[in-house]
Amino acid sequence: MSNVDYNERIPNNVHLSDNKTLQRALERWQPAYLDWWKEMGPEESTKFEVYLRTAISVDPKGWAHFDYVKMPDYRWGIFLTPGEADRRINFGAHKGEPAWQEVPGEYRSTLRRIIVTQGDTEPASVEQQRHLGLTCPSLYDLRNIFQVNVEEGRHLWAMVYLLHAHFGRDGREEAEALLERRSGDADNPRILGAFNEKTPDWLSFFMFTFLTDRDGKYQLAALAESGFDPLSRTCRFMLTEEAHHLFVGESGISRAIQRTCEVMKTHKVDDPDKVRALGVIDLPTIQRYLNFHYSVTLDLYGSEISSNAASFYTTGLKGRFEETKIGDDHQLANDEYPVLDLAGERIVQKHVPALNALNERLRDDYIKDVEAGIGRWNKVVEKAGIDFRFKLPHKAFNRRIGIFAGAHISPDGKVLSEAEWTHMHTQWLATEADREFVASLMGRVAEPGKFANWIAPPARGINNQPLDFEYVRFS
Ligand SMILES: [Fe+2]
Ligand SMILES: [Fe+2]
Repeated sequence: MSNVDYNERIPNNVHLSDNKTLQRALERWQPAYLDWWKEMGPEESTKFEVYLRTAISVDPKGWAHFDYVKMPDYRWGIFLTPGEADRRINFGAHKGEPAWQEVPGEYRSTLRRIIVTQGDTEPASVEQQRHLGLTCPSLYDLRNIFQVNVEEGRHLWAMVYLLHAHFGRDGREEAEALLERRSGDADNPRILGAFNEKTPDWLSFFMFTFLTDRDGKYQLAALAESGFDPLSRTCRFMLTEEAHHLFVGESGISRAIQRTCEVMKTHKVDDPDKVRALGVIDLPTIQRYLNFHYSVTLDLYGSEISSNAASFYTTGLKGRFEETKIGDDHQLANDEYPVLDLAGERIVQKHVPALNALNERLRDDYIKDVEAGIGRWNKVVEKAGIDFRFKLPHKAFNRRIGIFAGAHISPDGKVLSEAEWTHMHTQWLATEADREFVASLMGRVAEPGKFANWIAPPARGINNQPLDFEYVRFS
């Protein structure tokens, strides 16, 4: 299964040429995809030659090839991590049974919904980011956003392959609808809230890739445990690409922080207005962006208590993060899990059946991962000798979904009245004025080796290329 046929119109390691009906269906979807890319992909980019990696195999040691590509000519392919012989379902009511190679009839519509919901996020993020190339802080960063964009496109292909291969006519209709919804569209929006938010500047983009792509990592990791083997194998390979997206976000913010700290030290200033006057982003503004993107992304995990999550698990469709490394019975009928609840003026913890708290558990796994990244940012601040530390807001802060939707919770977890919230929230969430300031820094820097004033150069280039490499050629 691991040989890649790269001579076909759609590169793949799924023996597409052996199934002419499927191949023709996907070849019919391909021009619609390219139309979508031309309409909603990175603005004014069709002629650029971009130094991109393309997945050409699933070999962990050498799956990517780097070269200049015009993005509409990118070889979006279908790659599944090779199957394990005799793979079993590892959790839920079917634990121990052979993993499904075909969709189990009784779970068909649930599984389709899971795949469509994941698939919908992929083109959504490309749409959200489509204007950002015009204000890139360097060629290196421009190349990175384009890399993220083409790979989100490939992730859409990954989900569309499953829909076409396993869900017949319904699947083909869903694949078309994935190209019809639009991020932020009032009439036909993307499915999930965070994917309809704007990503208007590069600080938002880096926050998005650090926080929201990381939600993607956790959702994919839970789906990689699925008893439906093609979904599991698809998600495993997607996770390989996802790591770079997270790197782009974490290192992007880290470089902005580093640059701000350098300027604060050189000019001996720490007042945010004075920091801004020097053309860099003050640390409290970065914190407010963090608070916004973090809370919006926490909502993507869904309600704390969810019977849907319980049924996804019990039916074997969606596991926990690193399911097979967890030392329990993988059925959870008798287990409990702590969730937060609102008791009048206080946030309290209560224990609920673990099966119903699987969204919360995945959210908690995610939060630990985010915390580690924040710790690395704080190292940069600490090393610069600056008295400031980034801190994640409370889990209940600014939530729109679940127990805390509609409540007013401060970043340190105090329950507030609406009046207190109205008075205080501009100190906690990025304001229009913050966004205008950040936007004012977003000039285009597109000369090899040059970087915008607000961001430090990265430690190293892409694929061992120097920092002044011509990562994008305009023609
Ligand atoms: Fe993705
Ligand atoms: Fe991603």
